Amino acid sequence: MYSGLPVKIGRAAEGDTFEAAVLAGLARRPRAVPAKFLYDAQGSALFDAICELPEYYLTRTEIAILRDCVPDIAALAGPGRQLVEFGSGSSTKTRLLLDGLHKVAAYLPIDISVEHLEASSRRLRRDYPLLPVVPVYADYMDMPVLPWLPGAADAPRLGFFPGSTIGNLDRHEAREFLHNARRLLGRGGALVLGADLKKDPEMLHAAYNDSAGVTAAFSLNLLLRMNRELDANFDARAFAHDAFYNSGEGRIEIYIRSLCPQWVRVAGRPFFFDTGERIHTEYSYKYDLGDIDALSASAGFVRARTWTDPHRLFSVHYLTAAGDEPG
Ligand code: AVI
Repeated sequence: MYSGLPVKIGRAAEGDTFEAAVLAGLARRPRAVPAKFLYDAQGSALFDAICELPEYYLTRTEIAILRDCVPDIAALAGPGRQLVEFGSGSSTKTRLLLDGLHKVAAYLPIDISVEHLEASSRRLRRDYPLLPVVPVYADYMDMPVLPWLPGAADAPRLGFFPGSTIGNLDRHEAREFLHNARRLLGRGGALVLGADLKKDPEMLHAAYNDSAGVTAAFSLNLLLRMNRELDANFDARAFAHDAFYNSGEGRIEIYIRSLCPQWVRVAGRPFFFDTGERIHTEYSYKYDLGDIDALSASAGFVRARTWTDPHRLFSVHYLTAAGDEPG
C-alpha cells in the first residue's frame, strides 16, 4: 500500500542552509546559530553520548516514566490510532508506545534527516512487519499537512513529542509548534509530550556541564562543523562551552565563548571575536505544571494526565484537543 520511501512535505529540503544561517548568525548581535545545526553526524553521535552521562538524567528518567505509564496512555488513547512522531530520530522511545498501544493503524515518523528516516523505518518494518510505517521528510516546525493514508484515514491521531525537545523552542516557537500539532492531529487528536521539569539549579547546571566534557564537545563541534563544511578556520581550543541556568527565564542558556581576541574566516568572510564574545547556540527551557497548562491552553490543548518520576525530575503529559471533551 505504501511505497516505503519518505514522503516529502513542505519545505523540508529548502529550509535554511547551514552556510546562510551561519553567515547571518555571525553578522548579527548578539551572535546566534540555530540549535538544529548542532546535529550533523558527529553532533548526533555526541548527543547520543550525552544521553548516557550520569549527570544527564533526562533520557533515562523519561524512558522509566514511559515504561510505567504506557498502559495508561493506551487506555486513554484507545485502539486504532495513527501514531505521529515529531522529530523521530532513531525512534527508540517509540517502541515503548508501539509495544503498548492497541492496534496501531500506522506509524508516521517525521524528521529532517532522510538518513535517519530510512534507517529507522527499515528497522521498524523488520520488527513490526504488520505495521504500516510511513516516513515523512519534513521540518515539523513548517509542516502544512500530514499524508492521507488510504485504509487508515479515519484513524484518530496520537502525536508523540518526547525528549523535552519542546524545551529547545523559545516560548513563541513552542506555542507555534503546539498550535500546528493541534491542527495536524485533528479531531479526536491527542499528544504525548515529554518535558523536563524546573528543579534545583545545581542539578540543571551539572546536566549541561558534565565532568567528562561531552556536552562541551557537543557545543564546540559546531565550530568544527563550520571548519569541515564552510572552509572556516576556528581553533576550538580558543573557545569555551558556556552553559548556565537563567532562573528568571526558567531556561538553560548555552553559548560558545571566545577566550581571546581573534579573527576567524568562515566561507571566505572575516569575523572578529573579542575576549568573552559569545555565539548563542541553545536554550533548554524547563517547565512546571502551570507552565504546561498555560502553553497547552494557548495552543488549543488541555492537559488530561501527567506522569512524573518519584523525584519529580521529568514529566510526560497526555494533552487532548480542547473542544473534543465529551458533553
Ligand atoms: C535535545 N535536547 C532536549 C537537549 C536538551 O537537554 O535541551 C539538547 C542538549 N544540549 C546539551 N545537552 C543536551
